[in-house]
Amino acid sequence: MTRTIDGNAVAADVRDDVAECVATLEAAGVTPGLATVLMSEDPASETYVSMKQRDCEEVGIEGIDVELDADAPAAELFETIDDLNAREDVHGILVQLPVPDHVDKRRVLRRIAPEKDVDGFHPENVGRLVAGDARFKPCTPHGVQKLLEAYDVETEGADAVVVGRSDIVGKPMANLLIQKSPVGNATTTVCHSRTEDLAGKLADADIVIAAAGMPEFIDGSMLKPGATVIDVGINRVDADTEKGYALVGDVDYESASEVAGAITPVPGGVGPMTRAMLLYNTVQAASLQHDVEIDL
Ligand code: GUN
Repeated sequence: MTRTIDGNAVAADVRDDVAECVATLEAAGVTPGLATVLMSEDPASETYVSMKQRDCEEVGIEGIDVELDADAPAAELFETIDDLNAREDVHGILVQLPVPDHVDKRRVLRRIAPEKDVDGFHPENVGRLVAGDARFKPCTPHGVQKLLEAYDVETEGADAVVVGRSDIVGKPMANLLIQKSPVGNATTTVCHSRTEDLAGKLADADIVIAAAGMPEFIDGSMLKPGATVIDVGINRVDADTEKGYALVGDVDYESASEVAGAITPVPGGVGPMTRAMLLYNTVQAASLQHDVEIDL
């Protein structure tokens, strides 16, 4: 029997834990605040940011919603970040990516105060994660770890294959999986667009993390029977639906679910976890900044 890994259910548990932490912080006089900065007219980015704001409201985090024109000068974004860095009521800052081409993404990520960088993308936080001393784990790989933990997927000694080498998912995911820590200790291979024999690598994988952003390119014939398959992909493909598109993962769910031991659906798998872990990182940021102990 293939188990369906229910990201909505695990994310609801995380949100409950976060709401308790918010209550603890409130009792100590701290209302956690998360600023989202959107500098884009991309409908998907707009949707993601509004969902993040709604999530904040649900658990009692103060959402600060900043929107800049997509053609505003880069300096305006940097000034916005500086202002948010200085605000005491803002504990976490997230600049929605991608930023427009005229803005240097790396400069943006370096500008955010590392202690407010709830994405975990500032070089200081990337370095800490690689060194095994993470402050904020990036939300998507952190959420994947939570799913593996919730479903008792053994990572120690397992062969894990991460497909995709992005800064947001693939690289931090691989770094977490190799660490000498719970939900780590996996023998981890990172595959990407130049990998010559992806099917050969996947054939031995006990755990597959698909994060390449290519619709349904991994199918059941490429998987080891019983493998755990975590599908990070959210791809819009043309479809005969009301919206004119459908969302599909990087994995062909139908064929993969006949071979896998456990698999995440799209939607309802990793997506809700990414959102929940942002709330988690925000209360963690508030706790660190105010030295209030919380139980996460
Ligand atoms: N764009 C897509 N995913 C992410 C994310 O996790 N954080 C930010 N800031 N932007 C994104």
